[in-house]
Amino acid sequence: MQRIKLGIIGLGLAWERLHAPALARLKDKYEIVAVCDKDATKVKEVALFLGLPEESAYTDYNKMLTREDIEAVESLVPISENFETAAAVIRSRKHLIAEKPLASTPEAARALIQLRDSTNVKVMVAENIRYEEQNVLIKNLITSGQIGNPIFFIDTHIVEYQQESERGGFGQTHWRQEPAYAGGVIMDSGVHHMARMRYFFGNALSVYAKGRPSGLSFAPYSCINSLLNFDENITGHYSFFLVGKETQAPLVGLRIFGTHGEIYLEEPNCGFVNISYKDDRPSVAISYTPGEGYYHELEDFYAALRLGGKIESTPEKAMGDIETVFAIIESARLGEAIDPRKSERVTQAYVLPRVTSYPNSRTDSRTENRLS
Ligand SMILES: NC(=O)c1ccc[n+]([C@@H]2O[C@H](COP(=O)([O-])OP(=O)(O)OC[C@H]3O[C@@H](n4cnc5c(N)ncnc54)[C@H](O)[C@@H]3O)[C@@H](O)[C@H]2O)c1
Repeated sequence: MQRIKLGIIGLGLAWERLHAPALARLKDKYEIVAVCDKDATKVKEVALFLGLPEESAYTDYNKMLTREDIEAVESLVPISENFETAAAVIRSRKHLIAEKPLASTPEAARALIQLRDSTNVKVMVAENIRYEEQNVLIKNLITSGQIGNPIFFIDTHIVEYQQESERGGFGQTHWRQEPAYAGGVIMDSGVHHMARMRYFFGNALSVYAKGRPSGLSFAPYSCINSLLNFDENITGHYSFFLVGKETQAPLVGLRIFGTHGEIYLEEPNCGFVNISYKDDRPSVAISYTPGEGYYHELEDFYAALRLGGKIESTPEKAMGDIETVFAIIESARLGEAIDPRKSERVTQAYVLPRVTSYPNSRTDSRTENRLS
């Protein structure tokens, strides 16, 4: 089967740590033919590393997008540029793998979906959560009735964000430290958290959140606690604490309680999903390989282009994730419960006509809310 000729836009951390290693394992399915980054030195280095000719290294993606041999493009740019870059790729009639979040507001995500619908282009949002083996396993356990009907969940994320950033985490980028999009890291990480909940339980019907104002540049709240209600009367708490560390094992993690038992995932890289029962059946730990979502999502995209498969991580689902995070942020601000599906009202305040430039190349960022 013919390989997909791929162009890459944005050669930062997501490229180095996530996409380049996955693509290296998928050489039978993808051929990288062009790369682009604003940083001229970086793009030359990557082109050299990939064995591409110098003329296939671009600093302007609009030039790269004129190439007829490129069939699909990966967009791996800072969040506030996701919209503009994705729109340019779709307008060039190339298929798109867009990093999450699809855009930084639900309105912008909706506009991209409309733009896609006016073309024959296929778009996948690289939301690895929908492809991680532990999540597929948990979803199968739920849908096969292993714990009976799910009723209640606890989903807790505790991180010392600044310390992790200083130790080389993704938060080291200036655009994350001084975000030009609503919610800061609550949006950046929160879309992953909501993608997981929505992958298991469908749409959230209402959220009610309380935040602890932070005084931090990278997030409006240092801790946000939410009550979420989903389809099928499933209810639970989601907490995201950005300035803490769990010092005792086991971690709170993710716990899903059903009529007959419980599923427990301590953290995404732990390698085991635990399932225990209310009756006297013994509990079971099922192993999985962590971090495979970046690989499986590219397999999915290939299947969609070459084998007539359906994309799992659609822009529509990604928009729902963004809407749910917005509802959480807005609920904390207003002190009232919000239905994420009615996001128009809540997001108007966040159309940010702001242009920000950052001091080094890891970091450039502009706002993206110009929809036309
Ligand atoms: N799925 C995940 O788990 C995951 C993890 C990390 C990042 N991401 C996503 O990946 C994207 C990139 O994040 P990152 O950590 O790699 O950021 P980064 O700052 O490390 O890299 C972004 C790169 O894009 C380049 N760039 C910026 N604007 C550009 C433009 N207009 N044209 C060409 N190049 C441009 C920058 O020079 C930089 O090299 C974000 O959307 C982020 O949300 C996803």
